Amino acid sequence: MIIDGKKTSQDILEELSEQIKKHQGSRAPCLAYILVGEYEASHLYVKRKVQACERVGINVKGNVFEESVCQKQILELIHGLNLDPTVDGILVQMPLPSHINAQQIVEAVSPQKDVDGFHPFNIGRLLLGYTPFFVPCTPLGIHELLMRSNIQVSHKNVVIMGRSNIVGKPLAALLMQKTSQTNATVTVVHSHTSNLEEITLNADVLITAMGSPELVKAHMVKKGAIVIDVGINRLHGKLVGDVDFKNVEPQASQITPVPGGVGPMTIAMLLSNTLKSYQMKAQLT
Ligand code: GUN
Repeated sequence: MIIDGKKTSQDILEELSEQIKKHQGSRAPCLAYILVGEYEASHLYVKRKVQACERVGINVKGNVFEESVCQKQILELIHGLNLDPTVDGILVQMPLPSHINAQQIVEAVSPQKDVDGFHPFNIGRLLLGYTPFFVPCTPLGIHELLMRSNIQVSHKNVVIMGRSNIVGKPLAALLMQKTSQTNATVTVVHSHTSNLEEITLNADVLITAMGSPELVKAHMVKKGAIVIDVGINRLHGKLVGDVDFKNVEPQASQITPVPGGVGPMTIAMLLSNTLKSYQMKAQLT
């Protein structure tokens, strides 16, 4: 069975839109983004995020820089956005050019406007089991997709392929939390793992975030496993995941497609986090 991330994300956008309508009369929620350079995929992702914001009634403030921008210019912009009471969320699209210190940029964003959930304050809280202001959008989107598909991870072996700061590490922290909706037994594998297949074959839920086109084949997947594909890769001009979908689908009980799986859920969670930030502020004033 195919898990339809596109349909689930559209349901969430509808729900967000309804919630935002209830705030009519006061200012709309607002997301500010920072986009640096010409990297085509980043421009496409930001375009999709902006379209989704417009659909649900979130204002967008765009800040686009040329590749040559210096660290100080970005930091000054972020300091201004941190202080701007009309901005609820700040998104810095990754990756940044190599002359920019990305760690310093991420740390400059106020944790209370860090709707990507990348700030060490939020990641640290997630790891410690304290409530972070925001959980990173892709892990949150995967968890939401599993919940809305009635898939419980408690008592299950979840194998995550990939150890990135954006997906693998925070996803491991999220799914092993001590809550009835998480409580998974998590194993993380990566490019330097020996006996990869031995471990992936043990997965009840296999989540791939490696960025290797069609790396995962049927012989690596236990019969009846649930397969969640986070990869977005180009192969021979076609968009494909980390899973060889045609090959693996008969082996899996449920599987997400690429496109139309995790990608739209990431965007829905960005909007959800932005609304959360807006609502947190409204409660303060
Ligand atoms: N680059 C790849 N994924 C993401 C994401 O979720 N957020 C940001 N800001 N950049 C990314």
